[in-house]
Amino acid sequence: MQKAGVAITESFGSQAEKSPSRQDVYRMFDRIASRYDLVNRLLSFGQDISWRKKLAELLPDRQSQSILDLATGTGDVLLSLVKYSKNIRYGIGLDMSAKMLAEARRKLPGSAISKNLSLVRADATSIPCCDNSFDVVTIAFGIRNVTDVKESLSEMHRVLNDSGKVLILEFSLPPNLLIRKLHLFYLRYLLPAIGGLISGDKEAYHYLNRTIESFPYGSDFLKLLDEAGFKSTKAHPLTFGVATIYEGEK
Ligand SMILES: C[S@@+](CC[C@H](N)C(=O)[O-])C[C@H]1O[C@@H](n2cnc3c(N)ncnc32)[C@H](O)[C@@H]1O
Repeated sequence: MQKAGVAITESFGSQAEKSPSRQDVYRMFDRIASRYDLVNRLLSFGQDISWRKKLAELLPDRQSQSILDLATGTGDVLLSLVKYSKNIRYGIGLDMSAKMLAEARRKLPGSAISKNLSLVRADATSIPCCDNSFDVVTIAFGIRNVTDVKESLSEMHRVLNDSGKVLILEFSLPPNLLIRKLHLFYLRYLLPAIGGLISGDKEAYHYLNRTIESFPYGSDFLKLLDEAGFKSTKAHPLTFGVATIYEGEK
């Protein structure tokens, strides 16, 4: 189905307002936006930077690419993609949280390529862009947060052009039982305590561990990508499997 316009600056509207749970997720990110980057760096021991770099390495080897980064948050994926790839013509970052986007906007002007990047407030399950408009769609630590994962994957498929690629970075659980046990201890007890202390919002970091433990990963997530119509799907586990990059082609 065709949707109107590529870059609409305030397209978030009544449809999302109707769903209280969806509202709660982005409101939670509104609350922690100013401390989000700091907490991210600390809680991932800086690993999030190398995971986003790996995402950039998986960009297709084509010149002049258009990128849509969903759940862009404070914009770190967009910024690292343009840092590590010379092949990006323009990029759009989309998110529902106005405060996360405000943090992203603050970071963009410092970058030489900021004129090629724009930010849109919208819902990743109802992307306000035309069919076949992007070479690449990315989403990092965002697919776990949308209320309708299948709808969001189907939207990603719709807005990608025919040779387009989706790259999804998301938390997962390590396959090694000992490492998994240690990681679950970290997720359940240390992460909410440290995250809560720094951000002032312990509940947000309890939410993080609950959603990580319940979200499909590995072959289960690849199945969702296949069902959404993506081809040549692959999973790239990172750091003992605590995060995974999934890729697929339209
Ligand atoms: C954990 S942050 C990830 C931010 C960024 N991608 C990164 O790598 O740091 C998740 C983001 O998803 C956004 N979000 C949640 N539900 C969304 C939706 N339905 N549509 C768009 N963004 C959404 C939140 O506002 C938040 O900024």
